[in-house]
Amino acid sequence: MIEVSPSLLAADFARLGEAVETVNRSNASYIHIDVMDGVFVPNITIGFPVISAIRKIATKPFDVHLMIVDPGRYVSQVRDCGAEIMNVHWEACTHLDRVVHSIHDAGMKAGVTVNPATPVELLRDIISELELVLVMSVNPGFGGQKFISNTINKVRRLRSLIAETGSKAKIEIDGGVDLTTAPALIDAGADILVAGSYVFRAPDPVNAIDRLIDLSR
Ligand code: DX5
Ligand code: ZN
Repeated sequence: MIEVSPSLLAADFARLGEAVETVNRSNASYIHIDVMDGVFVPNITIGFPVISAIRKIATKPFDVHLMIVDPGRYVSQVRDCGAEIMNVHWEACTHLDRVVHSIHDAGMKAGVTVNPATPVELLRDIISELELVLVMSVNPGFGGQKFISNTINKVRRLRSLIAETGSKAKIEIDGGVDLTTAPALIDAGADILVAGSYVFRAPDPVNAIDRLIDLSR
């Protein structure tokens, strides 16, 4: 069954605690938290003090997506604010193997994220070490963007690479996910769908999450 990781980026930040409690009540598997530095992407969002604060009220595991340069500098801070999965961008790591090992040494699951123009085949020599591959289906930096349809093909190729290498990595998709784009992603082999605007702009976010999960039943 498909898992959902609602992205808090689309929540009302003036009521962040309520958004976390909404996710607590839902059938989401994770909470997706987008950290941006204004350098790797042209936007700045939330950082470690905010993540630590919401950890105190959240019941779901944190899926932290770091859109920052050289994310290996922050492994211990990410761990200390209670992340279960630390996602780093392939494009942001010069020594990706070292970063993945330091994420594991800190006791977290390692995810590697690829931008829309980055081929998944570049992960061949690291994929057996990963718990997760996060495929961007928009250019990272903002919520509410249009889904890039080439992602479907990319997910199929990633599914083949995982089968071929015997990797246990889950496939997560991020950007423009809603009820119209999710079916093809599920069919192509996605395991986890990140959804921001679709969930938090819905009149009933808990129901919106259930409707995504229902697509895979
Ligand atoms: C974008 C972020 C996404 C974003 C997705 O850079 O990584 O997680 O919140 O938002 P939607 O679902 O609105 O495309
Ligand atoms: Zn994200």
